[in-house]
Amino acid sequence: MAMLDHPVFVVTTHDNGRPSGCLVSFANQASVDPPGFLVGIARKSHGFEAASRSQHLAVHVLPRQQRGIAELFGDQTRSASDSFDRCSWRAGPAGMPILDAAIAWFVGRTVDRLPIGDHMACLLAPVATWAPESSEEPLYLSDFDDADPGHQTSQRLFDRAPADAARRYGVRFTLGGL
Ligand SMILES: Cc1cc2nc3c(=O)[nH]c(=O)nc-3n(C[C@H](O)[C@H](O)[C@H](O)COP(=O)(O)O)c2cc1C
Repeated sequence: MAMLDHPVFVVTTHDNGRPSGCLVSFANQASVDPPGFLVGIARKSHGFEAASRSQHLAVHVLPRQQRGIAELFGDQTRSASDSFDRCSWRAGPAGMPILDAAIAWFVGRTVDRLPIGDHMACLLAPVATWAPESSEEPLYLSDFDDADPGHQTSQRLFDRAPADAARRYGVRFTLGGL
């Protein structure tokens, strides 16, 4: 897996009146018709309970310049409320917290949950999307090589030199048209 570079996302939700969110690299489009997207949430994370109870999740693509915001949500020492106190966000579709720094996002209804080892896979059906034309490059795993990967391997997540932007696969999801 360390050969592969791919986008990372900030996944947020709302539970018991409180926003919750984490940085996620286990995430990918998984179906075209109907549109589906899989997100892996670590069982040991604080966000696990929230993601288990909430009927929706919001998936954000951040630009590379906003690595600081992504780090707020990938920092195990930081509480969720502290992360949301330190960035600009608003309530969006289904009450999901929407980060203003995102270059694209969608809100998905959780249509299935599947235990997979130490993670839980949430299958999302998008109910609202925002993906304007943008020339900004999304955040990739290789942008986090010096970050603590939390509940995942302690090895570097991506151990090659970052590829040219042109060689990275883009966030060209086919979830639009909703
Ligand atoms: C680059 C990177 C990728 C990560 N990918 C995931 C992921 O796919 N799923 C997940 O649940 N946590 C992932 N994490 C960890 C969470 O973002 C976050 O650190 C953790 O949920 C916070 O732990 P806590 O909720 O126990 O405080 C990742 C962290 C980093 C730095």
